[in-house]
Amino acid sequence: MKVVTIVGARPQFIKAFAVSRVLRTEHDEVIVHTGQHYDKELSDVFFEELGIPEPKYNLGVGSNSHGRQTAAMLEGIEKIIKTEEPDIVLLYGDTNSTLAGAIAASKIDPLVAHVEAGLRSYNREMPEEINRVLTDHASDLLFPPSESAADTLEQEGVTEGVHVVGDVMNDAILWAQDIAEDESDVLDRIGVEDHNFILSTVHRAGNTDDPDRLKSIVDALSNTPLPVVLPVHPRTKNRLREYGMWKQATSELEVIDPVAYLDFVRLIDASERVATDSGGVQKEAFYLNTPCVTMRDETEWVETVESGWNVLVGADQELIEEALQMSWNPKKNPSPYGNGNAATKILDVLTKQITEQTTNDS
Ligand code: UD1
Ligand code: UDP
Repeated sequence: MKVVTIVGARPQFIKAFAVSRVLRTEHDEVIVHTGQHYDKELSDVFFEELGIPEPKYNLGVGSNSHGRQTAAMLEGIEKIIKTEEPDIVLLYGDTNSTLAGAIAASKIDPLVAHVEAGLRSYNREMPEEINRVLTDHASDLLFPPSESAADTLEQEGVTEGVHVVGDVMNDAILWAQDIAEDESDVLDRIGVEDHNFILSTVHRAGNTDDPDRLKSIVDALSNTPLPVVLPVHPRTKNRLREYGMWKQATSELEVIDPVAYLDFVRLIDASERVATDSGGVQKEAFYLNTPCVTMRDETEWVETVESGWNVLVGADQELIEEALQMSWNPKKNPSPYGNGNAATKILDVLTKQITEQTTNDS
C-alpha cells in the first residue's frame, strides 16, 4: 500500500508522527510538507526530535491570505498525487494544508482519508471550521476520535467509511510522557518549579487578530499570581508588537520561543494548569490530568469540558483570572478518545480497504 501524507502545520507533524511510525513499518509513505509552517521551531524541530522521515516534497508555500496559500498548495499537491499515484492520501486535522489535500485528492484516483473527522465548533467564523466541514465531505474514509464526532458526521449525512478509532494525539502523548519527564530539562532552563506555574498558548485568529480580545487575555495572564510561561507563536508575537502589547507581555509573563514537543509535554505535565486557545493543547492537558482554561467561546473537544477538566472562558478577563485561581477537583479522567492505539486502528482499516479494493479489481 502506498500512502501520501499531507502535513504543513505544527500539530500535523505530531499527529503524523503517531501514525507514520506504525505505517512505515509495512507500507510505503511519501510525506508532503506544504510549507505552511516554515520557522525551525514550528517545523524542523518536530521532524528531528520525533524521527519523522524527511518529506520527499516541500512545497514551500509560506504565509499568505487563505486563498493564495490554499491555491498554491492545491496546485502542488495535485501534481504530486499524479506523479506518485498513491492508494491513499492521508490528511490530518483542520488547517489550510488539510483542505488543499482534500480538494486535490478527491478529484483524482486515491482514497482520501481524514484523521480527526467529525469535529465541529459550529463557529463558521473560524477558518478551521470551514476546512473541517469541507474535508469531511470530500473524504472516503473518516476517522473520528470519539463517538460524538461520529454522531456529528451522521447528522450531516456522512455515514459511509466512518471508523471511530480514538485520537492519534493520545497515542503520541502516551509515547512522550515518560520520555519527557526523564529527558527534558525545560523547567530548569526556564526557571520554573513543578506545579508552580501556568502554561499558556495563544494563536487562534479570533484572539490574535482582535486587539480587544488579545489585550484582555494579556491583562488576565499578567494578573495571575503564579508565573505564566508563554511559548509565543509567531502570529501572536507579530500582533502583540503591532498592537503595542509586547512590552507588557515580556515584562509580566515568561515569554519564550515555541519549544519542541517533548519540552512542551513536560511543561503541560508539570504546570498547575493550562490557559490556551489551541485545539491540541486542550486534549494534551486532559490526557496529562492538568486542568485547562480554554480562552475560546466554544470547543470541538466537548468531552474535556463535560468531564470537568476544561472550562470555556472566552476572552473575558475576569473569567480567565477566576478560572486560573479557583480550586479545581475534576472527576476521574474518562477515556472518550480511545486508549492510545488509534494509529494501529487506522492502519488496519486502510489495509483492509486497499486489500478489498485490489481483490475486487482482479
Ligand atoms: C495554522 C492553522 C491553525 C492551527 C495552527 C497551528 C489554518 C487556517 N490555520 O494557524 O488551524 O491551529 O496553524 O499552529 O490553517 N508564521 C511565521 N512562521 C511560520 C508560520 C507562520 O512567522 O513558520 C506567521 C506568519 O506571520 C503568518 C502567521 O504566522 O502569517 C499565521 O500563520 P498561518 O499558517 O497562516 O496560520 P496559523 O495561525 O499558524
Ligand atoms: N506544541 C509544541 N510546542 C509549543 C507549543 C505547542 O510542541 O511551543 C505542540 C503541542 O504539544 C500540540 C501542538 O503543538 O501537540 C498544538 O499545536 P497548536 O496549538 O499550534 O495548534 P492546534 O492544535 O490549535 O491546531
